[in-house]
Amino acid sequence: MEKEYTVEKLDHYCRGIIHRDEKIGFIDNALPNEKIQIEITNEKKKYFEGIVKKYNEVSPFRIKPLCPYFFKCGGCSSQHIPFEMENNYKEEKVRELIAKFTDIDLVVIKNIEYGEEFYYRNKIKLHIKNKKIGYYEEESNELLEINKCCLVSFKINSLFEELENVVKNNEIEEIIIRVSNDEKRVMLKLVGNVFNYESILDKVDVLYINDSCITNKDQILTNIGNKKYYLSIDSFFQVNIKLTEKLYDEVLKIVSKYCPETILDLYCGTGTIGIYVSDYVKKIIGVDYSITNINDAMKNAKLNNLYNIEFICDKVENVIDSFKDIDLVIVDPPRAGLDIKTKENLKRIGSKYIIYVSCDPVTLARDLDYLSANYEVKYIKPFNMFPKTYHVECVCLLIFR
Ligand SMILES: C[S@@+](CC[C@H](N)C(=O)[O-])C[C@H]1O[C@@H](n2cnc3c(N)ncnc32)[C@H](O)[C@@H]1O
Repeated sequence: MEKEYTVEKLDHYCRGIIHRDEKIGFIDNALPNEKIQIEITNEKKKYFEGIVKKYNEVSPFRIKPLCPYFFKCGGCSSQHIPFEMENNYKEEKVRELIAKFTDIDLVVIKNIEYGEEFYYRNKIKLHIKNKKIGYYEEESNELLEINKCCLVSFKINSLFEELENVVKNNEIEEIIIRVSNDEKRVMLKLVGNVFNYESILDKVDVLYINDSCITNKDQILTNIGNKKYYLSIDSFFQVNIKLTEKLYDEVLKIVSKYCPETILDLYCGTGTIGIYVSDYVKKIIGVDYSITNINDAMKNAKLNNLYNIEFICDKVENVIDSFKDIDLVIVDPPRAGLDIKTKENLKRIGSKYIIYVSCDPVTLARDLDYLSANYEVKYIKPFNMFPKTYHVECVCLLIFR
């Protein structure tokens, strides 16, 4: 009889954790308390990875994934557990990481906020190989053909049939689709040798063939709360159709409570957060290193008739030492979190408040540990912005001691 293991808990990538002798192992598609036999796929000095060969006992919480491509595609990691369990898992993950890397009292961690379980994304990127549309399988160059994706909006899913025809009649390598948050407007980019696209033209508002826009309009409009934003094909924009508004409302709640005069909006993307809170502030400065984002940010400020917001196109670390007299700093960095120069300068600036919007709780915990020497972490609110994946977003309020 082969050795049986009992899964102890889920790791931060939603894999089951087991121990073989003293060594930790991470097993795909294995849930807590399941009794399994395994095959090791990757043995390292300190850990191993594996797959389940046989389930001797299955978790009562295991459910049938909605998506037929789950586990092959690699885009999702938690379709086999109920949504409530996923939300608890993500809240617990934040708690564990804050406990591991900081001395912050865990009572500051609030309940997780969540929205739609499926069909929540306003953007998709698809690949094409041998006239088949799909995603690349996890860690491989093999294309997994798909004709739907239950993470993306219904509007995007409704375009698959026509896209299959367009793909048949052209040499397309990549497709990007973006929709407005009310799903009324569609933007499409086809990359490759594309000549026969008439059939899709009446289904989209904006069409890009490679880098050329062939429709009259090259952007679509979308709303978050009472603010309007332009969407470009290549600029940054939060993907969760409904929950983004709740996340921005969390930031707005803080800003409207403390009424800062000046806000520095670091890693501002297309200026969305600064613009969202602009009614409560005298002056906002947004910084982002992408010229595409900053061009859209400036257009967005104009679109909303704002004259109290300006933008700088540069790396945060290149300009951070030039700021002083700021009441509140918003940081929304990429997964890598804040670099040391930026953190040192946040201390130097000494703004009364910092709002840290994070998409990676590991780097968030590391950065909060550094900042908590000067700032009290008032609360950390997790948001399930990316259901069915292992990712979790957080909004944190820090107040100068
Ligand atoms: C998570 S997004 C946040 C965007 C925005 N706050 C929002 O809610 O839409 C991170 C942004 O940081 C920008 N970025 C990444 N590294 C940067 C750096 N070193 N300096 C300035 N901007 C950077 C990216 O272009 C991206 O727009």
